[in-house]
Amino acid sequence: MTNIINGKKIAEDLRNNLKNEILKLKNEFGSVPGLAVVQVGNVAASSVYVKAKTKSASEVGIKVFDHHLDDKASQNDLLTLIGDLNNNESVNGILVQLPLPKHISEQIVLDSINPNKDADGFHPLNVGKLSIASHNDENLLIPCTPYGCLLMLKTLNIELSGKKAVVVGRSNIVGKPMSQLLLKESCTVTIVHSKTKSIEKICKEADILIAAVGRPKMIKADWVKNGAIVIDVGINRVEISENGEIKTKLVGDVDFSEVEKNSFAISPVPGGVGPMTIACLLRNTTIAFKNSKNQ
Ligand code: GUN
Repeated sequence: MTNIINGKKIAEDLRNNLKNEILKLKNEFGSVPGLAVVQVGNVAASSVYVKAKTKSASEVGIKVFDHHLDDKASQNDLLTLIGDLNNNESVNGILVQLPLPKHISEQIVLDSINPNKDADGFHPLNVGKLSIASHNDENLLIPCTPYGCLLMLKTLNIELSGKKAVVVGRSNIVGKPMSQLLLKESCTVTIVHSKTKSIEKICKEADILIAAVGRPKMIKADWVKNGAIVIDVGINRVEISENGEIKTKLVGDVDFSEVEKNSFAISPVPGGVGPMTIACLLRNTTIAFKNSKNQ
């Protein structure tokens, strides 16, 4: 029987542990971790994610600082806000929801966040630390989606060392940090992307396949080795026709109903990686709080 990796449940356990930890931190330090969430503009998907992140953070006892700038806000307006948040002692984590409007440079903005408050783990210093860190560095601020994927893999209690892992997609948010995390677990890691030749053949060699391309149902059953572990990072909204009505539905990058049949384990969409990303954001914020107390 294929294992359906229940991201919703794993994330719930993680949030419950964080809630208890935050209560203890409150007793010890008289304060709780603070997370600033910044959205610029009104991209619909971003609004959904931001709402889910702020709600989850409040539920575990994190103090939320919600900032919403108009889509006409300038890069300087945003940099000024980040400067204020960097100087605010009650703020331990800062998250700027991406994508940003075209007139704002994401890299300049990410570089301006105090690396110690980098709740996403996107600052170049944290990206560098991830690539050189030792195996068990509990203080690192690691990008939330790939870390969530790793935690899902770990619930399967299988040896990761020596496994062939293929990451589909080379984004800074998922593909690249995912490959670093798998390398730290001593997997043999390959990244494939839009210019890769024979992509299906390479995917089919994977013991662990991570799909993070943002293309609905791109990974078909004949791309996947029998008994492989498949983690689907894609969250794609597609239109479907039901009883003559057009509706929208969330699907992953993996053709779940086909691939499920011959994989050892697979994460669903929704209810897979999505909740893990949010739980890992709360974890990073708590780590940043603890790091600030140990400096
Ligand atoms: N946009 C899509 N995923 C993410 C994420 O993990 N963090 C931020 N800040 N923006 C995103």
